[in-house]
Amino acid sequence: MLSNTAVYPVRWDRENQCVILIDQTRLPGEYTTVSISDSTQMARAIKTMIVRGAPAIGVSAAYGMALGAREIETRDSTEFLKQLEAIAEMLRQTRPTAVNLFWAIERMLETARSTSSSVGEIQAKLLETAQEIQADDLQTCQEIGKHGVTVLPETPERLNLLTHCNAGALATAGYGTALGVVRSAWDNGRLNRVYADETRPRLQGAKLTAWECVQEGIPVTVITDNMAAHCMQQGMIHAVVVGADRISANGDTANKIGTYSVALAAKAHNIPFYVAAPLSTVDFKLADGGEIPIEERDSQEVAQVGETRITPSGVDYYNPAFDVTPAELIAAIITEKGAVAPQELYQLKTQT
Ligand code: MRU
Repeated sequence: MLSNTAVYPVRWDRENQCVILIDQTRLPGEYTTVSISDSTQMARAIKTMIVRGAPAIGVSAAYGMALGAREIETRDSTEFLKQLEAIAEMLRQTRPTAVNLFWAIERMLETARSTSSSVGEIQAKLLETAQEIQADDLQTCQEIGKHGVTVLPETPERLNLLTHCNAGALATAGYGTALGVVRSAWDNGRLNRVYADETRPRLQGAKLTAWECVQEGIPVTVITDNMAAHCMQQGMIHAVVVGADRISANGDTANKIGTYSVALAAKAHNIPFYVAAPLSTVDFKLADGGEIPIEERDSQEVAQVGETRITPSGVDYYNPAFDVTPAELIAAIITEKGAVAPQELYQLKTQT
């Protein structure tokens, strides 16, 4: 069940025919929204992380395509498809790792190609498809939440779950993948508390996961990234649940930078490490995680904390935004079709 504090990071404003995004770069200090009325604005919002998180990026890109379709003036459907492909390419260039972006764009292009009617009707169908992608994601996350609770370890006491980055309502259409499991555990009386890694350099854990938990009344403890292994060693963590940006066919999982070290620490302490993600995050075309493109972001993100520069001049920087956790460190991948061991992921392919 969605609480009345539910958060929807992407909304279609029917009256003004535009998309309203929660500006995630300003949370938790300020809750503000940005209205997006064309595809270029949407591409910029994805790139600058006003909207972020793999499924939310997918939903936003779908709306970007729907908005872009309305910018095309020709009534000739072949020319229309050509111009739509150029908009798709602009949106594809925003962020390389989350496969949901490419998946949603492809689904929109497929809709346009298979709608054999007037340009006006294709434009209407594209908006409907974006809304469908959004509604499906909400439903999918709720299913992930339900399946997730069934795989969490049985313990005499209620669970302490650790998560990394933000895989919550803000990162999806509105319920969350990893935080969907957390929410579901909370609703079922199985959760004691969430430990949220702060997630340098952009602090999605400290800012966004913590904010969402506070909205929902879920007890949350924020720790810096380098405290996770210590907390595990102290017996404070029963399980780890994280989201994913792209999962290769063998179950290797790209997620926010730092996820891999959390998985290694969990393995060393015999703590189950779960990945919660919709099947649209699985890229069955990629044999293993080595093929997943990893986004590198501006060095400023490492050089600064907020507006404050923390490094001396004259140093070099490296800022990969994601890392790949090998399948052997993952106890189960929790999808909308159920939770499976990484090596069984392919069995779910036929069911999509
Ligand atoms: O760079 P971000 O904030 O878009 O990265 C987000 C993550 O890594 C999430 O864990 C992932 O996208 C899953 S969101 C349900």
